[in-house]
Amino acid sequence: MDYGKLVYKALEARKNAYAPYSGLHVGAALLCSDGAIYTGVNVENVSYGATNCAERTAIFKAVSEGKRNFSAIAVTSDLDRLIYPCGICRQVLAEFNIPIVIVADNKGNYKVHRTDELIPHAFTEF
Ligand code: THU
Repeated sequence: MDYGKLVYKALEARKNAYAPYSGLHVGAALLCSDGAIYTGVNVENVSYGATNCAERTAIFKAVSEGKRNFSAIAVTSDLDRLIYPCGICRQVLAEFNIPIVIVADNKGNYKVHRTDELIPHAFTEF
């Protein structure tokens, strides 16, 4: 699938972000190996630590629907610069072997990274 299209899905999803505290609307779109796409947004909470990032929302939606194999995830926000996943989301990307992360700005400009660049030496087994 064209990464530009995945970024577009993330931009569309961003409209549903629930971000009354930070004001930063984030959208993600996760491409499964079978071609299905799951979107996600950040869902904030007045108890800030209960907030869920857009990437994890998309991943948890897909996993809870039985998906286990993934090709790539795109993430975008209101910012006019690229947005990068937080540390917790990087660990979740590693858990589910999502190999490619596409980081985008609010216009759909994007850059493609391998996940192992973003989380080298990930904790994956013990
Ligand atoms: N956020 C995401 O959803 N994804 C990221 O990659 C970085 C941060 C959210 C969490 C919070 O709702 C807001 O952005 C500000 O940190």
